[in-house]
Amino acid sequence: MAFDILKELADRAGESFSLHDKYLNAQMVRVLKTIGFDRHYTRAEGAYLYDRTGARYLDLLAGFGVFAIGRNHPTVKQAMTDILNADLPNLVQMDVSLLSGLLAERLLAHVSGQERVFFCNSGTEAVESAIKLARAATRRSKLVFCDHAFHGLTMGALTMNGDASFRNGFGPLLADATRVPWNDLEALEAALAGDDVAAFFVEPIQGKGVNLPAPGYLREAARLCKKHGALFVADEVQTGLGRTGKFLAIAHEEVDPDLVLLAKALSGGFVPVGAVIGKKWIFDRTFDRMDRAVVHGSTFGKNNLAMAAGLATLAVLEDEGLIENAARRGANLLERLGALVQKYELLKDVRGRGLMIALEFGAPRSLGLRAAWTLLEKATKGLFCQMVIIPLFSRHRILSQVAGHEMYVIKLLPPLCLSQSDEDWIVSAFDDVIADCHQVPGSVWELGTTLARHALKSKAGT
Ligand SMILES: Cc1ncc(COP(=O)(O)O)c(C=O)c1O
Repeated sequence: MAFDILKELADRAGESFSLHDKYLNAQMVRVLKTIGFDRHYTRAEGAYLYDRTGARYLDLLAGFGVFAIGRNHPTVKQAMTDILNADLPNLVQMDVSLLSGLLAERLLAHVSGQERVFFCNSGTEAVESAIKLARAATRRSKLVFCDHAFHGLTMGALTMNGDASFRNGFGPLLADATRVPWNDLEALEAALAGDDVAAFFVEPIQGKGVNLPAPGYLREAARLCKKHGALFVADEVQTGLGRTGKFLAIAHEEVDPDLVLLAKALSGGFVPVGAVIGKKWIFDRTFDRMDRAVVHGSTFGKNNLAMAAGLATLAVLEDEGLIENAARRGANLLERLGALVQKYELLKDVRGRGLMIALEFGAPRSLGLRAAWTLLEKATKGLFCQMVIIPLFSRHRILSQVAGHEMYVIKLLPPLCLSQSDEDWIVSAFDDVIADCHQVPGSVWELGTTLARHALKSKAGT
């Protein structure tokens, strides 16, 4: 019988949770069921997901930032279909492809001061590659990274993870890595002082918590790196490609990094991709002889589909003015959501840049609310934000996420094509749910009690 993937999907519709429970990650299925996120999505377009009843959801997660140009963009689909239909040679390996050359040229046109590109398959692989390039170029081994950093989950990247809950249980990790507090230039200079550091890895805005750099921090950090012979590596896997209202987030401070890392949004969400962009001398020192031409690489790194999708994605970003939209829409959201801080005592701060936005909650002042907050905190630290994202989803069909482990921060990372009505949808939904959080007793705190019970049961291993 001829293979028909759409028939197979239709025949097995509704089985995704049972299959994952049986064969993949049962704990993930448990989480989704507990918080009521176990929907069956059947279609996606732009900033929206549709479930099998036809209900439309606004996606403020965007696949962790992958769908910057929106889901299933027709221009990228067309480019990929054209490439498939052309029966091109792909991954010849003992050859160099035109598509990867074109994408490198197009990327470098967006990133002034950079000269070379290395393509790989993910953000974490871009980080691993940058570690190797930095070590090869500087002939040093030490790495410096920030508290709360997130650079991926493979061993090198995990070594530079600023959150112990990710690192625990996977050691020993790389030797020679030093953590410094975020926004602390003195600590950074102390870590660099031995002139033995290969590279300082930094996210221009930290994804875990949406922590913004203090004005001038990145520029001064780059200067210190130069002074001490360490590479300044800007991990723009999440912030890059227009997310913050500029092509790169470091452009807000006019920093000239030694290496820039991209992934996520680069292929429009269709194909895994990663890129390390950097100075020629770093690449020359790594690939320094003919017998070292393949000393670092990755089998699928420059595959045709990823490269074509990358070219199409860059075209869409420009043609649709998505970076400008991210800047404008982000500023509106920051202002409108920021106004809620005055209105609600549980909401402490709204911050961000472009369409990378955080709402931070914290302990209330009034007695009734404070008692409820303290009780919940005792049961499970950081549970409060779950109480917000659940009704946002169930009542307002907004998909969002808590910004990290034991955090009081909800992060918005929507597609950059967000419209005026999407903006209104977000503001009114948050207003409604946060208002409810101020009612004790009330449905939101009842939910909190249920969640705390689940959390306690889970800790007890039942
Ligand atoms: C700043 C940053 N670096 C690296 C990564 C890892 O990317 P990937 O999940 O594609 O490996 C992420 C993922 O969220 C990220 O946000």
